[in-house]
Amino acid sequence: MKLQKVCAVSLAGLMLLALTGCGGGDKKAAAPKDGGKKLVMYWGALDDWMAKDIAEFQKDTGIKVEAVRMSSGETIGRIKAEKANPKASIWFGGPADGQIQAKADGLLEKYVSPNAAKIPDKFKDKDGYWTGVYVGYLGFASNSKLLKEKGVEAPKSWQDLLKPEFKGQIISANPGSSGTAYTMLATIIQLKGEKDGLAYMKELNKQMKNYQKSGTAPARLAGQGECMVGISFLHDAIKYREEGMKDLVLTAPSEGTGYEIGAVSIIKGGPDQEAAKKFIDWCLTKKAQEIGQTTGSYQFLTNPEATPPKQAAELNGTKLINYDFPWAGAHRSELVEKWDKAIKS
Ligand code: G6P
Repeated sequence: MKLQKVCAVSLAGLMLLALTGCGGGDKKAAAPKDGGKKLVMYWGALDDWMAKDIAEFQKDTGIKVEAVRMSSGETIGRIKAEKANPKASIWFGGPADGQIQAKADGLLEKYVSPNAAKIPDKFKDKDGYWTGVYVGYLGFASNSKLLKEKGVEAPKSWQDLLKPEFKGQIISANPGSSGTAYTMLATIIQLKGEKDGLAYMKELNKQMKNYQKSGTAPARLAGQGECMVGISFLHDAIKYREEGMKDLVLTAPSEGTGYEIGAVSIIKGGPDQEAAKKFIDWCLTKKAQEIGQTTGSYQFLTNPEATPPKQAAELNGTKLINYDFPWAGAHRSELVEKWDKAIKS
């Protein structure tokens, strides 16, 4: 049974009750191992992974989970709005930039899981406010059929995106709502400096067909033939290609590209902090880290004992920039505002 079809319906911004007990096969969980606790979670990765993860977590611990999928900017907005009375206890997934900002805003609770000892230092907060679970590389997902029709090659650099043949043919997400798109904005500023970077983003804006809310949409829309090029994390494009969007071709910018550390953290003052800690302990294990790939989430993994998805191997050799996470997190609101102003000017 495809659990996500039953449980994880689309959200439209509303609380998705990803009730792991909704499948007939899960009835055994009616006698919870953990005293009937319920954990509320804001989830930043893909829906189908969310449904599988919470089903497995409930099976292992008896703790029920309610989860809602949101893009990074939405999650920060929600947690801020709920600061006086937090509704959720876990923020899972989405680039760590968002969680770094949330930490600085006093929205997160410190928790150093015993299982975090296995996670290399470069993938976790030095003060213990967030821990990395996966790593994804940003790039271009192009539609080979549309490229062929126009006789053009897939973009191989950030500069290529400004070529006349791509005018009106590029889709990205909005850096205000999407962690993926913010990774792009922070990458460009790190590569070019603020002044030239914003000037580039202004030029790129003239090439755009539109901006989406979530970072995975551009790859999907390119796969559906809605545009020539989508800017997304490349593992999302691999998923869509595997699911049947055979025209997708993947390229990464020769200047170097940015990457995400998908992170997990505890929301300050959220209910069921003990259950939240258990979830963090659990999601750092080898077994839990290997669940994403069973639903087509092909990020690299942070637990060295976990086997990364074989699909991610095609991304080995991608030229990465030395992405500065503390800087990117600290400047998120400011850069999004400057970007907004630049593209409107
Ligand atoms: C997808 C990717 C994740 C990424 C997330 C960011 O789910 O598979 O690796 O962290 O998008 O989402 P956002 O909508 O905030 O760009």
